[in-house]
Amino acid sequence: MRSRFAGRVAVVTGASKGIGAAIARRLADEGGSVLMNARDAENLQRTAAGIAKTGGRVHCVPGNITRPGTCEQLIAAALEHYGRLDHVVNTVAVNLAYGPLLAAERDMFMGTMERNTWPSVDLVQQAVAQGMAEGGSVAVISTIGSHSLAPYLAAYSASKAALDLIVRHLARELGPRNIRVNAVAPGLVTTDMSQILWAGERKQAEEQLLPLGRLGRPSDIAAAVTWLLSDDACWLTGQIIDVDGGRLLVGDEPADLIGADLAAPQPKPDAGPPSPGRAQHYTSAGGTR
Ligand SMILES: NC(=O)c1ccc[n+]([C@@H]2O[C@H](COP(=O)([O-])OP(=O)(O)OC[C@H]3O[C@@H](n4cnc5c(N)ncnc54)[C@H](OP(=O)(O)O)[C@@H]3O)[C@@H](O)[C@H]2O)c1
Repeated sequence: MRSRFAGRVAVVTGASKGIGAAIARRLADEGGSVLMNARDAENLQRTAAGIAKTGGRVHCVPGNITRPGTCEQLIAAALEHYGRLDHVVNTVAVNLAYGPLLAAERDMFMGTMERNTWPSVDLVQQAVAQGMAEGGSVAVISTIGSHSLAPYLAAYSASKAALDLIVRHLARELGPRNIRVNAVAPGLVTTDMSQILWAGERKQAEEQLLPLGRLGRPSDIAAAVTWLLSDDACWLTGQIIDVDGGRLLVGDEPADLIGADLAAPQPKPDAGPPSPGRAQHYTSAGGTR
């Protein structure tokens, strides 16, 4: 494994499982020292032990990053334990409701907005105030739903759209200090958080919509995040990078219109109207669904 992060120190929140755990593992595999955070200390310790077993340098600090003071403590702990700080990665988010916006309640909506936006600002403020290294970088996890329509996920998606703009503002403000700020926007990744979207038969249906033919793995997102954090992306800031298996390249069209269609012989311009099957796909979907 390359050692792009040798001598570097990263704070990764939400690191006990899913995408955050994969990022912590990848950073450690590439030589970085990682302060790992999540609320449940036991789960966090178990994940960290797995990384340490293969030689990774990790240190656990449990805590809820949506509570005032926790972000400050995490940054201070990283500096105290490792003596420097180069990277901050916030993966934590909530989705408090799955349903129409018309049925949304204020507490759910505002709680989602606050928890999915402020901790990223808090972490970066604390990192900069406490002495994050020049040449460092920040990454947060958005979603493709921040810039497409994910039904029944309005509050969550709106909060991530706000996060995207926060990323761009922070990138603008921190560029002169040579600190880069970017986001990865995943499509559907098989983790606990998204299980409602891929459990049972939904998995195959979702996979059929993907040009790359499979759902995302946490390691797919970790690969993109670590690239963004690394010096390989040293002239890139304020970007929201979709990592989605090609999901945004297609709408909700039937699977037989994806891929297979491109390989099929195309009708000549004078070949008459399209076959009934084909015409049905287009008209029933209102054009280009
Ligand atoms: N999975 C997907 O399909 C998908 C798609 C697009 C975007 N995303 C985004 O990817 C990110 C990671 O999601 P995931 O799917 O990897 O979730 P996950 O598997 O459920 O993992 C969530 C992690 O965050 C920790 N956590 C939750 N709340 C926390 C808090 N308040 N403070 C500290 N740690 C906390 C959890 O541990 P504890 O419970 O012990 O705290 C756990 O380690 C989220 O921002 C999500 O919006 C996911």
